[in-house]
Amino acid sequence: MNASGAQKHTRRRHGPRDPNEAMTDLDSLERDLLAQVSAAPDEGALDAVRVAALGKKGSVSELLKTLGAMTPDERKERGPLINGLRDRVATALTARKTGLAEAALETRLASERIDVTLPGREAPEARGRMHPISQVIDEVTAIFADMGFAVAEGPDIETDELNFTALNFPPGHPAREMHDTFFLAPDANGKRKVLRTHTSPVQIRTMRSQQPPIRVIIPGRTYRHDSDQTHTPMFHQVEGLVIDTAANIASLKWVLEEFCKAFFEVDQVKMRFRPSFFPFTEPSAEVDILCSRKGGEIRFGEGTDWLEILGCGMVHPNVLRNCGLDPDVVQGFAFGVGLDRIAMLKYGMPDLRPFFEADVRWLDHYGFRPLDVPSLVGGLTG
Ligand code: PHE
Repeated sequence: MNASGAQKHTRRRHGPRDPNEAMTDLDSLERDLLAQVSAAPDEGALDAVRVAALGKKGSVSELLKTLGAMTPDERKERGPLINGLRDRVATALTARKTGLAEAALETRLASERIDVTLPGREAPEARGRMHPISQVIDEVTAIFADMGFAVAEGPDIETDELNFTALNFPPGHPAREMHDTFFLAPDANGKRKVLRTHTSPVQIRTMRSQQPPIRVIIPGRTYRHDSDQTHTPMFHQVEGLVIDTAANIASLKWVLEEFCKAFFEVDQVKMRFRPSFFPFTEPSAEVDILCSRKGGEIRFGEGTDWLEILGCGMVHPNVLRNCGLDPDVVQGFAFGVGLDRIAMLKYGMPDLRPFFEADVRWLDHYGFRPLDVPSLVGGLTG
C-alpha cells in the first residue's frame, strides 16, 4: 500500500498526518493520563480517570478503535504504540489503586488506634449504686418476709377518707392538723385529695380487700409540709399490719424486737414503749431503742441514749368496723416505721436532705452494689 493512501485513510478518521506528530500526541496523552493517575486523591477520583481513559468512550479506547480502520502497515506501527500506552496506563491505575487503598487503611488504623494497655472501663453494673432507701426497703422486706408478711402497696395521692376519716380521724379532729398535709385542688364535688401523710391508709385498703388472717408490710413514700435536717417534704415509711383472732401486744413486741435485731444486725436490742396517741390505734405507743453514741458512732443494745424509731398500737375497733370487720371476732396490731430514719441510724448518715438531692458523689459513698440483694441467708448488707 502506498503511503499517501494510508495517510488519506488515516486523516479521514483521526490520525495526524505526520507519524512523529502522532507519536508526540501519544506521548503527551500518556504523560497527561499518568499525571492524572498519580494526582488522583482517592479511589473515586482514580476511577473517574480510569473511565475517562479506558472506559467505553475513554480517550485510549477511542484510539484503539482507530486500529480497525488502519492499513495493516499502519496497524503494525501504531498498534504496539497504542496498546503499550493502554498497558502502561492500566498498570499505573492498578498501582495507584493499591497505593491509595493502603494509604486509606493506614489513615483508618491511625485514627482508630486503641491503647490496649489502658485500664478497662467499668461495666454499668459495677459503677451503678442502689440508693440507701431502696436497699433498706429490700432489707426490711427480707426480714418481714421471713416472718410470713406479704407486701402491700397503695397510691401516693389518697382520698381524705382513707388518709384520715376511715382511720378514725373524724372531720375537724385536731390530729389532722398535726400532719402538715399537702392538699390537692378540690374536684367537681368539692372533695380535696391529699398526698398521703402516712402509709396507714393502705391498712384500710388491705382490710377492705382481704379477709383475715392478714399479715402485710407496706413500704412507700409519704408527704408532709416539713423541712429541716431530719425532715423532708417527701419521706418514707414502712407500715405493718397484722389482723387475726389472737394478735396481741405481746406478739407486737416480739415482732418489733425480732425486726430490730435483724435490721440493726445485733444480738440484743433494748426497747422502750412509751404511751402515745394515734386515732387509729388503742392503746398506742412510740418505741425507742437504747443506743450509745460514744465517739460519734451509734451502737445499739448498749449505752444510755434512747432513739425514737416507730409508732404502733392495737388496731382501733372503729377502724376494724370501718373496714367491715367485727372487733368482737378479730383484732390486730399495726406499726409505722420511718424508713429514712432507720436508714440514717444504720448507715451513719447525719443529714436526711442529701437523700433526695441526686448527688452522684453522695450515692457513690452511701449507695450499695446493685447485685448484693439483701437476704437473711446471704446477709442483709453483704
Ligand atoms: N401512721 C403513723 C404516723 O405516721 C404511724 C403509725 C402506724 C402508728 C401504725 C401506729 C400504727 O405517725
